[in-house]
This record gives sequence, structure tokens and C-alpha cells, in this order.
Amino acid sequence: MKGVILAGGLGTRMYPLTKITNKHLLPVYNKPMIYYPLQTLINAGIEDILIVTGGNNAGDFLRLLGNGNEFGLKHINYTYQEGEGGIAAALSLAEFFAAKDKVCIILGDNIIEKNIRKAVSTFERQKEGGKIMIKEVPDPQRFGVPVLEGDRIIRIEEKPKVPKSKYSVTGIYMYDSTVFDIIKTLKPSDRGELEITDVNNTYIERGQLAWEVLDGWWSDAGTFDSLMRASQLVAETGANKLD
Ligand code: DAU
Repeated sequence: MKGVILAGGLGTRMYPLTKITNKHLLPVYNKPMIYYPLQTLINAGIEDILIVTGGNNAGDFLRLLGNGNEFGLKHINYTYQEGEGGIAAALSLAEFFAAKDKVCIILGDNIIEKNIRKAVSTFERQKEGGKIMIKEVPDPQRFGVPVLEGDRIIRIEEKPKVPKSKYSVTGIYMYDSTVFDIIKTLKPSDRGELEITDVNNTYIERGQLAWEVLDGWWSDAGTFDSLMRASQLVAETGANKLD
């Protein structure tokens, strides 16, 4: 399976911190944010990785990560997203890289405590479709929220005012190669973006979206508060443990 880290967008929510740098290069405790999702993929056994970046400081990713030697990699692939057309728009840039393989995607601002290796290898054996990782959170209205019927997810609502479950869809997604055809059918949402939630809802309509509850803590780091929380969690318990 191939890995994709989505680190595009302009980070406008975090002005002025992102005025002269990319959000994913900001520190989370003692490392740049992008180190964490990169390590998450590597710990899961995924070493063929594409980083989608954007904005005015894309070159700094190359200066920071190079070919990933520090992480034991021989090579990292990079591509550039113009503007911020949404998570699904950023993912569409990975079509040629994926070359019909399955892909494991992680958002560049998602940080986790444990290893997703087991979930990834179960998905490797899944015949078709996609898989998401969900996590119980105190503030689901900030995220994509799964609507559950028994143990079935019947749809996902993006940032609902009144969440129908206590779970968030985390920024870890696994898809078969049909994801790129799905993205071509999407229309921009009210916030003008191609939404990953619409991709997941298409897989749900096809009866092809598996899910698992993520083990260990999970945090995004895309707001001032969540960045501080992520730093605290990393400092207190460490991230990307090997088990
Ligand atoms: O963190 C999980 C949540 O991420 C999910 O629960 C939501 O369903 C999903 O929509 C997303 O929500 P956010 O509104 O928090 O996403 P945000 O716009 O902050 O983007 C998250 C990352 O995705 C960002 O760090 C880089 C990447 N991205 C985002 C956009 C809009 C891109 O690469 N390109 C983009 O155009």
C-alpha cells in the first residue's frame, strides 16, 4: 500500500502563526508537525510516501525532510496543491503516484499515540472499498461525525451543529483506487471545498466503507487550542508508539 500525507491548504485559521510558514512545519512539542504523520505511516510499514503541500513555503518541506534519511527512507515524493480546494482536491493530486494501488492517507495535522499497523494490514486484505478510523471526542461538532445504526455507519455529517454521535472521523483514510473516480464526481461544498466526507459517504452508499475505533489518543493540531493540546499529549505520553 502507498501512503499520502496531505499538508496543503493555507492554514488561515492559524494566522499569524502561518503568515510566514506552513502550518505543518510549526512545532508540536519538540518536533515539526509533519514529522508525526510521516512517522505514523512508516510505523505502519508504509514507505512509499507522497507529501502533498502548498502555499508559499513548500520548498521548506524539502529542506526539512529531503529524501527522508532521518526516518530511514530512501526517497520521498512531493507534489504541490494550488490554493486550498479541500482535502479531496489535495488527494486527487495523488492519482498518478497511486497508480491503481490502495492508498493510506493521513492529514498533515493529525497526531496519534499508537500504531495503525493492524488496521492497515486488515485493509490490505479488504477486497474493495475504503476504511476510516473513528475516535470518541468531547467536541464532535468540530469534525466529520459518523451517524451510527447499531454497528453500521449510515452516513457522515461534516461539522454538524448537533452531532448524532460522540465520535469524530479522524484524518486517517484508506481507499482503493476507485477513490480518484469518486473525487471527479464531487461538487464543492458550502465552504467551497471538495470534501473528504463526500468521498466517504459515496463509499457508504456502495456498502463499502469499513471502520475501526482508533486505539490510543488522537488529536488534530489545526487550531490554536488543538495545537496546544497535541503538544501537551506528546510531552506527557509520547506519540507514534511502536505497538
Ligand atoms: O482532523 C479530522 C477532520 O479533518 C475530519 O474529521 C473532517 O471530516 C475533515 O473535513 C477535516 O476537517 P478540518 O476542517 O479540520 O480540515 P482542515 O481544513 O483543517 O484540513 C486538515 C488538513 O488537510 C490540513 O492540515 C492539510 C490538509 N488539506 C486541507 C485543505 C483544506 C490540504 O492538503 N488541502 C486543502 O485544500
